[in-house]
Amino acid sequence: PRPILLTRHGESMDNVRGRIGGDTELSEAGKVYSKKLANFVEKRLKSERAASIWTSTLQRTILTASPIGGFPKIQWRALDEIYAGVCDGMTYEEIKKNMPEEYEARKKDKLRYRYPRGESYLDVIQRLEPVIIELERQRAPVVVISHQAVLRALYAYFADRPLKEIPHIEVPLHTIIEIQMGVTGVQEKRYKLMD
Ligand code: G3H
Repeated sequence: PRPILLTRHGESMDNVRGRIGGDTELSEAGKVYSKKLANFVEKRLKSERAASIWTSTLQRTILTASPIGGFPKIQWRALDEIYAGVCDGMTYEEIKKNMPEEYEARKKDKLRYRYPRGESYLDVIQRLEPVIIELERQRAPVVVISHQAVLRALYAYFADRPLKEIPHIEVPLHTIIEIQMGVTGVQEKRYKLMD
């Protein structure tokens, strides 16, 4: 069995400010996580010469991967965070205040709700198909460093969780979810590297 390690990027400046989307750098805590993650990955995948690190094309995942040495890194646009369209860069409070109909519509059906000029969870799930195909094809371990919405969808695929749960699955910051695919099914371990 070979592991797939899923993790969100380290805390970003937008996470600190409560803004969605964007393309900011890591906070101090996020930088600490990137180093702890590198330590963990280098130990965990020590003798795995064919392993690789996959990130999105957004700075916060690329910076989170940057301290990891010894493995090739691949950027996938399909791993970018759900795109919030006109709401990109706003806080949830601002959306609630300035676009209450949008806020309510999303609350009612988070899975299908599509941000104006942006994406829905269903859109994200669809664009992840090539990533999933490639993950299934890999024989070596893969570390996927991505974003909350995307990882909810990826995790649901491997953990066999129903579609309607996807937008609500908890994927905490600074935690590695290790998925092992063996003959007896899928096993999961979590490593919380920081509080
Ligand atoms: O920036 C986007 C968030 O990571 C997605 O979270 O779908 O719960 O709003 P949400």
